[in-house]
Amino acid sequence: MSFGYLCPFKSLEDSMLEVLTTKVHDEARQGEAYAPLTGEPLQYSKKFYIESYGCQMNFSDSEIVASILNDSGFGATRDFTEADVVFLNTCSIREKAEQTVRKRLTEFRKIKQTKPGLLVGVLGCMAERLKSKLLEEEHLVDIVVGPDAYRSLPGLIEEAEGGQKAVNVLLSREETYADISPVRLNSNGVSGFVSIMRGCNNMCTFCVVPFTRGRERSRDVSSIVRECCDLFEQGYKEVTLLGQNVDSYYFTQDEGQLSGQHPSAVTFAMLLEMVANISPLLRVRFSTSHPKDITDDVLHVMAKYNNICKYIHLPVQSGSTRILQLMNRTYTREWYMAKVKRIREIIPECGISSDIIAGFCTETEDDHRDTLSLMEYSAYDLSYMFFYSERPGTLAQRRYTDDVPEDVKKRRLQEIVDLQNKLSRESNERDLGKEFEVLIEGNSKKSDADWMGRTSHNKVIVFAKSNREINKGDYVNVRVTDCTKATLLGEII
Ligand code: SAH
Ligand code: SF4
Ligand code: F3S
Repeated sequence: MSFGYLCPFKSLEDSMLEVLTTKVHDEARQGEAYAPLTGEPLQYSKKFYIESYGCQMNFSDSEIVASILNDSGFGATRDFTEADVVFLNTCSIREKAEQTVRKRLTEFRKIKQTKPGLLVGVLGCMAERLKSKLLEEEHLVDIVVGPDAYRSLPGLIEEAEGGQKAVNVLLSREETYADISPVRLNSNGVSGFVSIMRGCNNMCTFCVVPFTRGRERSRDVSSIVRECCDLFEQGYKEVTLLGQNVDSYYFTQDEGQLSGQHPSAVTFAMLLEMVANISPLLRVRFSTSHPKDITDDVLHVMAKYNNICKYIHLPVQSGSTRILQLMNRTYTREWYMAKVKRIREIIPECGISSDIIAGFCTETEDDHRDTLSLMEYSAYDLSYMFFYSERPGTLAQRRYTDDVPEDVKKRRLQEIVDLQNKLSRESNERDLGKEFEVLIEGNSKKSDADWMGRTSHNKVIVFAKSNREINKGDYVNVRVTDCTKATLLGEII
């Protein structure tokens, strides 16, 4: 397969035919898949219900699961009381995430008592972490499937229907589900998520992901671009390229498949450019960037294309070099600061957000103050903030003691949250009076009289609907008139 159809809206190359053929097939299948979700007559003999927890990649995986299940005769339902099988696609990142799933399983236990034939399946990271132990701990669970084994779901459901407990938690070095066309569940029809890689090779000592998701592998570039083209054809206006560490995307083709004018290896910067070229009307976002891997090439591609959103999620985790070393993040405080400076040099208007962990093993007040001062330096627009939660089997759990008392962790986290609130408000205040191109995602949560959309730098903006014919999925220019710490308020120009 060549990369020849990369820019179908600019040039009609031969391979375009291939894309269009696939698209017609996919749309037909997706039409059916949507039916049960929109309450139209069912075309499936059985129904499944799926609930997702954790990161965007897990939500994206549920759409792959839905596709696999549709193909084997299961239609999706939003009402679990009418389902033949219910799935929880689970997260293990912090202890609390697992507790939430356990609570939900207790609720399903009650339903199963009144509906004995109901099958309960646990998918995702918790399934992978606990494996068949989960069956011993949670007796109502019938099926346990890890993130790389979703193709075996139809067979496992059959086994479970026959009264067997069914488990597949094999991790793979190759599986990317590249050929599977996700069924968009709960989508707003404007923004779509496209998984570009799986797994993670970075052994951050606090993190369970390398154990639950396995080795890093990059998805075939052709299938990524095709999926983005399909989304655009279906009316989507924004794609977010997903991976635990998107900047280490690296796809190589077999020699035999190479055609002369195409590169043999595709980096993330190249992929980004290919997707940006699909159409200037298709916005491109990506997440997550590891500070050690984001290159100047990526930053230059971002600066070059108006439709690549000027926003980078660049998790720092801690502002102390000593703690960063214990975390095995492979950069220092100064190195991170230089990266932020570089981003601002190449893309002056770029939004930057972060993930921060409070109270990692041995963290002192000085280390904590380093985190606060690095937050100030980076002037984050937004942060996701957590206190450290020790995870079984991780390097930190094996090597270090989780020795920061809980009340200290919580107090430090609160200081981090307070500072971020201040930084977010300041960031929003800097935008007062400015004009932005906004992609409308839908009605504002509070009022149908207002639209909600996003700026390129990923800020949510709410503004009154005008008399003009404007719809969800349109781009409009909006002037910022007011703000809270979380939201910009504006008016259509
Ligand atoms: N791949 C992404 C992060 C994925 S997990 C990256 O490297 O940036 C999302 C976030 O959860 C992490 O950035 C980290 O801040 C947080 N996290 C991960 N493990 C954690 C733990 N054991 N305790 C608390 N927070 C954790
Ligand atoms: Fe976890 Fe680090 Fe990989 Fe992110 S980069 S998923 S924090 S191991
Ligand atoms: Fe959670 Fe797994 Fe994502 S642990 S954060 S669902 S990769």
